Amino acid sequence: MKQKSEWKTSTGFILASAGSAIGLGALWKFPYMAGMYGGGAFLLMFLIFTLCVGLPLLIMEFIVGKMGKTYTTYIYERLVGRKWLNIIGWNGNIAVFLLFGFYSVIGGWILIYIIKVLMQIIGVDPGQLGDIHFESIIGNPVITMIAQGVFIALTMAIVMFGVADGLEKASKIMMPLLFICLILIVVKSLSLEGSMEGVRFFLQPKLDQINLNSMLFALGQAFFALSLGTTGMITYASYASKEMTVKSSATSIVLMNVLISILAGLAIFPALKSFGYEPEEGPGLLFKVLPRVFMHMQFGDIFYVIFLVLFLFAALTSSISLLELNVSNVTKNNNNKRSVAALLISALVFIIGIPATLSFSTLKDVHFGAGTIFDNMDFLVSNILMPLGALGSTLIVGHLLNKEALQTYFGNDKFKLFKPWYILIKFILPVVILIIFIMQLI
Ligand code: PHE
Repeated sequence: MKQKSEWKTSTGFILASAGSAIGLGALWKFPYMAGMYGGGAFLLMFLIFTLCVGLPLLIMEFIVGKMGKTYTTYIYERLVGRKWLNIIGWNGNIAVFLLFGFYSVIGGWILIYIIKVLMQIIGVDPGQLGDIHFESIIGNPVITMIAQGVFIALTMAIVMFGVADGLEKASKIMMPLLFICLILIVVKSLSLEGSMEGVRFFLQPKLDQINLNSMLFALGQAFFALSLGTTGMITYASYASKEMTVKSSATSIVLMNVLISILAGLAIFPALKSFGYEPEEGPGLLFKVLPRVFMHMQFGDIFYVIFLVLFLFAALTSSISLLELNVSNVTKNNNNKRSVAALLISALVFIIGIPATLSFSTLKDVHFGAGTIFDNMDFLVSNILMPLGALGSTLIVGHLLNKEALQTYFGNDKFKLFKPWYILIKFILPVVILIIFIMQLI
């Protein structure tokens, strides 16, 4: 089976996979999850899960992609020879399909905010940053649905016209800019009166906040932010060239992700406490707090637009990987069918995304299970499908793949890390994921 394309260099691969991983997960979801599930305690659990569970799993997914070199609903059949194992790939496809459905809601919000602030800058809208009222904007079902559609269409166009490579190259500039922008916000946020309370909330773990529920969400966040368990990272690694280095690529993505998550927390929580918001604001957290931080800056509206564009860019480099995964599986990597597949899948994503958008307006009183429809879609993906996918992969990699072959793909091992990694994948991580999973059901 022919592959879509191959990144010629290791940098191309790192840019693309970092672009896929770093997106709304670190910037938008992490702070709101930390706000809901215990601040410092959540940060601590997230760090432990990211380093002890996320990193080894990411290395595993990279190895599987490099070994199998094909689309993910076939990769385990190819590697192990058992057709039913393709179920892991299908699980991942369902996960990213649903994920794109609610991811695009937030992508749409970013677009709405960009237009809103631009209109204020040119004077069409007489308001100021401080007047941006999240509920009234997001509570408009028609506008939010249109914005969501535009975000999906943008993603589709990038995937269809094959300009994803260009976008990923641009991330060489955009990512460092986003980083600088975040640091500026952190500095401003820390300088606000009463900010230290927010710093304490975010950095001082209160151990009594650690419980099964918050652990499950911290694990889900680690999965979401590193795109694990969806086989998305397997897909990207399957396009990588032989030179791609598994361990260093995975480590740099994990570190970047952790850094951006912490900066996002430091940007939000000091300001949040200073303005007297509650940390349990939910998905609107970033959109409520940041305009007010920028309001306190000189040329704040211009800086805010720049930030939002960079934020949009980070969201797009992730959403293209969501769509790419579905397209590569539906077309079995046949390039002639890419456009039609991208169009059809995007249309379906738009349809299943509608209830997610309406969770903030028409359907906002519909509550069950994890909360609104939006919350339930996120819960199903991040806390169920992703961990299940990862669990399945650890069992296959640990028990069915050849250890020597794994070691070869693991690469140069001067620090003798292969053995501990293998033990983690084979015995420890499946048990950890399973225990957290079963305990939540009980
Ligand atoms: N990790 C991405 C983010 O944080 C989301 C994602 C999940 C992308 C799964 C691809 C696959 O925004």
